[in-house]
Amino acid sequence: MPQSSQKSSDLITDEYRILHKVAQAVQSPVGLKAMLREAMLAVTDFQDLKVENKAGIFLVDEEKKVLRLFHTVGKFSSEFLERERKVPFGDCLCGRVAVSGELLMSESCFTDARHERTFSDMTAHGHYIVPLKADAKLIGVMFLYTNTHPVWYQHSQEVLLSIGGLIANAIQKKQVDAALEEYSSRLESLVERRTAELTSANRKLAGEVEGHKNTQEELRRLAHQIQGIREEEKGRIAREVHDELGQSMTALKMDLSNLEKKLPAENPDLLKQARSMENLLDAAIKSVQRIAMELRPPILDAFGLCEAIVWQAGEYEKRFGLKFDLNCLEEHAELEGNLKTALFRIFQEAVTNVVRHAEASAMAVEMKINDGTLQMEICDNGKGIQDAQVRDSFSLGLIGIRERVRPFKGEVRFLGTPGKGTRVVVRIPIQKT
Ligand SMILES: Nc1ncnc2c1ncn2[C@@H]1O[C@H](COP(=O)(O)OP(=O)(O)OP(=O)(O)O)[C@@H](O)[C@H]1O
Ligand SMILES: [Mg+2]
Repeated sequence: MPQSSQKSSDLITDEYRILHKVAQAVQSPVGLKAMLREAMLAVTDFQDLKVENKAGIFLVDEEKKVLRLFHTVGKFSSEFLERERKVPFGDCLCGRVAVSGELLMSESCFTDARHERTFSDMTAHGHYIVPLKADAKLIGVMFLYTNTHPVWYQHSQEVLLSIGGLIANAIQKKQVDAALEEYSSRLESLVERRTAELTSANRKLAGEVEGHKNTQEELRRLAHQIQGIREEEKGRIAREVHDELGQSMTALKMDLSNLEKKLPAENPDLLKQARSMENLLDAAIKSVQRIAMELRPPILDAFGLCEAIVWQAGEYEKRFGLKFDLNCLEEHAELEGNLKTALFRIFQEAVTNVVRHAEASAMAVEMKINDGTLQMEICDNGKGIQDAQVRDSFSLGLIGIRERVRPFKGEVRFLGTPGKGTRVVVRIPIQKT
């Protein structure tokens, strides 16, 4: 084989060997700097191109239009490392490649006018400056030290450009990986922070809800207590009005009729006046009795719930012309005092609602005890309550009914059928007495 063809085939073998080493280096799973070090060491092994064991890589800072020294292999002075940290685009050899994006060869640092930067310990050397391009975008520049007047023929240039492409792609991939990793760790910490915030907000909210519940409970107890006090007060006033005022008026009436007997018969005007006073007194006594009864019917305490309902229904019949069908069992007379009062007031509120809203002509009230549950049902034949009215938080009358049932762990339902009427059903767990 002729010597020159032997040489060129050796060179090609060497180029492929180095390309292969670089390809291996850029695939290694190490960090970016270690990977670039392996790749640059592989390139500096390029004996036939007379590359020295010195090389370095700049990365492009597109925003600032500078190259930043990222990594080197081989021995560099600290002066070099310090001054070359940043090279503006267009400056010296590497800055020129940053602008042109083309491979550059420099014969000698002392004769090449483009080699603008010089260093105190500089010895004669040449350069290959390789653009690092990924997808046609320049992301860095690799500088290789060579002997002066390095070999420069077409084939080597292509190999160096391919190596530049491999390295550029590897850098880009690592940068994307790093960005992704940073993004995902930021995301993770964000999620962690948000989770922590949500947990604490949740805890705070739970505390507030608990607080509200307690306040609500307290308000309920208070309302219940006030209702009890009102009932007692009404009872007391009813007794005083009935007993004291009623008795005084009855005494007055007796005195008046005694007086009447003593009036002289020849003065009929006086007699007439006394009779009229007597009639007024009768009306006043009735009013006193009615007021006392309405405040709190003594019948409720004396005879029980059924009797009180019968009496109250009779009053309503007279006053509003409503027909009542009552179905109450006598045994309920023995209900506990507060429960008796609550059921009686519910009955009154339900009938008041019928009178005010239902346009009904008849009502039915039924009370029974089944399996330890007392059920009171108050029905009318009016227009029927609507669901929205039942749910309305401003339906204070209905809320009052619900609150009266609550202390007894009972439940109440308002069931309306349009045009047919309304049923108010109260159920309270109870021990049969
Ligand atoms: N028996 C009924 N038939 C038809 N509609 C009714 C009946 N009972 C209640 N409603 C409707 O439900 C609403 C709420 O009743 P609720 O007793 O809460 O309030 P109210 O009677 O209007 O006022 P108050 O707070 O003075 O009782 C009424 O306004 C009425 O429209
Ligand atoms: Mg009402």
